[in-house]
Amino acid sequence: MKDTLAIIERVRRINPQVQHLELAVDESLAKVKPGQSLLVRVAPFSPTPGEENWHPYLREQWWPVGLNNNKVIVERPTGIRYEPGQVINAMGLLGQPLRFRRTLRNVLLLAYNSTPTALLMTIPWLLGNKVAVTLVLVGSATEYGTQHLPPEVEVLRGSPGKEEKTLIWPNQVLTAGWADQVFVVVAADDERLRFQRVLELFQTLRKDVPKNYLFGVFQPMLACGVGACWCCAVTQKESGHKLICQDGPAFDLMTMDFK
Ligand code: FES
Repeated sequence: MKDTLAIIERVRRINPQVQHLELAVDESLAKVKPGQSLLVRVAPFSPTPGEENWHPYLREQWWPVGLNNNKVIVERPTGIRYEPGQVINAMGLLGQPLRFRRTLRNVLLLAYNSTPTALLMTIPWLLGNKVAVTLVLVGSATEYGTQHLPPEVEVLRGSPGKEEKTLIWPNQVLTAGWADQVFVVVAADDERLRFQRVLELFQTLRKDVPKNYLFGVFQPMLACGVGACWCCAVTQKESGHKLICQDGPAFDLMTMDFK
């Protein structure tokens, strides 16, 4: 984990929900892989130099969605103003790369009441390795515009209805059976409850849910990011406590102890 400075070189609005920032980063951060992220400290933009250097809040977790000539592209909400030339403090790389199966033909990405941002960096890698990708958006995730994604990605939208009814999308049984691996993000307000629901759903959609198949990608608020505070601890049935910032962000939902 390295504490570095990065410069926002380009800001591009992608859809009504998100914008992409192109960051010039230290070479250690340009080695980012799908699943890894940055922990960033940035103050709201101020036209007066020096005034933007300090604020009292926790660092934010920024998820890369791509690389462009060693520049890291991250996705951020459109409600926040960023300026080209703005310098930010970026710690990274956070977490472990996603562990894809050796033989992989079809991957299902599922966003449940969360933007799919934390999953998007997988797409160029998967398509580049001739792996078919289906992106399922359910609940509030159905509002996410997908025009900027490669046309090869199949996008399925579920109904945006009430919480308990949102885990429904077209061809559910087919997509769950066809996928070799599934990666899921959920709203961060109650990840345990939602990941538990996702696990229960897949246990009804498939005869058996094997290990190394269904992964939750956890994205809680992280206080330190370096394994010191244990605010991001989760429990696995067989191996006890794990830290999302060190061992995550992806954990096999079949191995989790949600009690
Ligand atoms: S955020 Fe402090 S241990 Fe993970």
